[in-house]
Amino acid sequence: MITTSIPLWYMAGMFLAMIMTRHMASQKRAHTMTKISDFSAYSLIAKKRDGKSLSDEEIKWFINGLLSGEVAEYQMSALLMAIYLNGMIVKETAALTDAMLYSGETLKFKGKSVIDKHSTGGVGDKASFILGPIAAACGVKVPMMAGRGLGHTGGTVDKIESIKGFKTSISLEAFKKQLIKEGIVLIGQTKDIAPADKVIYGLRDVTATVESIPLITASIMSKKLAEGANGIVMDIKTGQGAFMDNTKDAKALAKSLRNTAKRFGKGMVTYITDMNQPLGNYIGNSLEIIESIETLKGNGPKDLTDISVKLAGAMIYLAGKAKDIPEGEKKAQASIDNGKALAVFKKLIKVQGGDESVIEDYSKLPLAKKVTHYKATKSGFVSSIACKEMGLHCVALGGGRRKASDIVDMGVGFILKKKVGDKVTKGETLVEILHHKKQEAQVEDILKALKKDIKLSTTKPKKTKLIYEMKEV
Ligand code: URA
Repeated sequence: MITTSIPLWYMAGMFLAMIMTRHMASQKRAHTMTKISDFSAYSLIAKKRDGKSLSDEEIKWFINGLLSGEVAEYQMSALLMAIYLNGMIVKETAALTDAMLYSGETLKFKGKSVIDKHSTGGVGDKASFILGPIAAACGVKVPMMAGRGLGHTGGTVDKIESIKGFKTSISLEAFKKQLIKEGIVLIGQTKDIAPADKVIYGLRDVTATVESIPLITASIMSKKLAEGANGIVMDIKTGQGAFMDNTKDAKALAKSLRNTAKRFGKGMVTYITDMNQPLGNYIGNSLEIIESIETLKGNGPKDLTDISVKLAGAMIYLAGKAKDIPEGEKKAQASIDNGKALAVFKKLIKVQGGDESVIEDYSKLPLAKKVTHYKATKSGFVSSIACKEMGLHCVALGGGRRKASDIVDMGVGFILKKKVGDKVTKGETLVEILHHKKQEAQVEDILKALKKDIKLSTTKPKKTKLIYEMKEV
């Protein structure tokens, strides 16, 4: 009898060959599809990988290609890593900023009173909720277009969303109207303003390419320039919990940001501030809203109050509402003392659909019910708090995202009962951890980690600086 059966090894070989042919064809397609005139994503990635500079046209082509779909996100990620590793010259940073800025709509406002502030990000950094209302109470128009959490740092947009009903996504028309009428508006990144940054920001967050001076400059400045701010106050964080972990890099970033502001004829004041320990005492979304409200009520911790007043003072000055920064700071402090800044924050919440009763009643915020205390193992002084690790513990509890699709838990977080330099006695609570019952095993791990993260010494540590440098364009 004649059989038609085909040997198994032959079938496996055929199958493998078919898969390989398909794979090679798709590789070729991806390569030729990205080719427009002389440019291809492949050749530009290779050029940057080999340490060469990209031309203005090449950078523009790449960014436009990302938005049109000609350039795949994995190719953008490869270029980001090449930029991260090899850096960019000033001309390239300028071309990248421009390409990202003009990737969407750009707003323009007359006069000089539209001033924004931006922080490069840190742990417990909730200053925007305080200085925005302060500046608006002093006559500045504050168009806050903020971000979500990035890496170990929390995001302004995530935090404000812990207030029930608060809308962080509104149309550009509504954004402009609210800014003119109320003097303050707070929204997240939109698809209309600097859409290239929205995509690139997300890719950097998951490809270990955040800590790059040209990428941070282009990301921040494309958004700030597109939203129409006439002046910008920059808070560049430096230290263990910041993306720029040393002052040399922080100064280079400050210079790069000032160069960009100068090129566009915008006023800018850059501050380099400390992020070797969390800012304020509360870390976590709802918790940071509570601490912001307390600071606006005049009961805030000194570091958070001082930074907020200083940055708001510079905004008031840039807007032409004070003759110099010290006068701006005085006006800023007065707006806390007379309750006007708090009233602006309350109005902002109401206008954007949020429940403004949180100002008087913190139980309206989602807070985790369980509280576990981490206690001092000996008497002495707090000599250091590992800032980045505190941010990472908060992310681990669900207070931030590990992947883009994660839903942020608004209720978890940490209350630092002691900060660097504080005296402690054995058995005293150093940190309160707010968590859910089901997280008890995870909290045990955090308690173990805190033994390494919070160092105690027998002698009082040297006082640390809060502000290292301030420069004006
Ligand atoms: N904030 C931004 O908007 N972009 C960065 O890259 C870092 C901080």
